[in-house]
Amino acid sequence: MLSKFQKATDKAMVFLLKKVLSPLCIPKQKLHMAMNATPPKVQLLYDLCKNSFSPSGLSYASSQPILKLCSLLDTFGPADVGLKEESPDDDRGHGFFGLNRVARWAQPITYLDIHECDSFTMCIFCFPTSAVIPLHDHPGMTVFSKVLYGSMHVKAYDWVEPACIKESKKPGCPQVRLARLVVDKVFAAPCGTSILYPKTGGNLHCFTAVTPCAVLDVLAPPYREDLGRICTYYIDYPYSTFGNGAHISNGREEDYAWLAETEAPDDLYMRSGLYVGPAIQV
Ligand SMILES: [Fe+2]
Repeated sequence: MLSKFQKATDKAMVFLLKKVLSPLCIPKQKLHMAMNATPPKVQLLYDLCKNSFSPSGLSYASSQPILKLCSLLDTFGPADVGLKEESPDDDRGHGFFGLNRVARWAQPITYLDIHECDSFTMCIFCFPTSAVIPLHDHPGMTVFSKVLYGSMHVKAYDWVEPACIKESKKPGCPQVRLARLVVDKVFAAPCGTSILYPKTGGNLHCFTAVTPCAVLDVLAPPYREDLGRICTYYIDYPYSTFGNGAHISNGREEDYAWLAETEAPDDLYMRSGLYVGPAIQV
């Protein structure tokens, strides 16, 4: 008797539950997907950036945001941002040291904007072999760079502090400032994330594509001309061009260079492309 009553009660309960839940009914498959779906990595990156950066930059009170961002960026591959690795065979570049100046810039660098706001920029640069982004700076900015595929040579300087400035008699180069070489190496995917800070880590850098390659960059805060965060280009001269050894307190002469401001290069061949990776929920 009791079991009959129990069965009737169970049936009634199931009926009631179906009635109550039917307006909220989600197809089984979708419910399963929603419960199991993890956000795309690029969404996690956006969320982390949003929580870590402000329009004035990174909070230096803690290194936690930097560690978290690096750990996440370290896991990125081309597929995470909708890219397909380019085969060196498909590339029409001319090798690391190129043929001549015109040939080196014959193929454009493609810039893909993922997201930009007052606090940070997320973007990708896709390089054909031998393409160059000449020596430039990131004033007051922290930049995270992750090579997604291919190989890229990075040469990066920090200013020697206090500033060591010399007048120059070179035509078109009235002044030079002493900088110390801090990075001079090839980053080949898969490799870790590199970071440059406002005053350390190689805030002035130059990229040369050894093979077709792509770099995912996070810039915090972004360039903003009205706030003085302007990209300036430089030419580097060997230390011996202007130096006499007096300014070097440690290291070798080869680790130092004199940098002169130069106009934005008009042969920097860059075009914007369309980001086709996972969309970000802002
Ligand atoms: Fe840069």
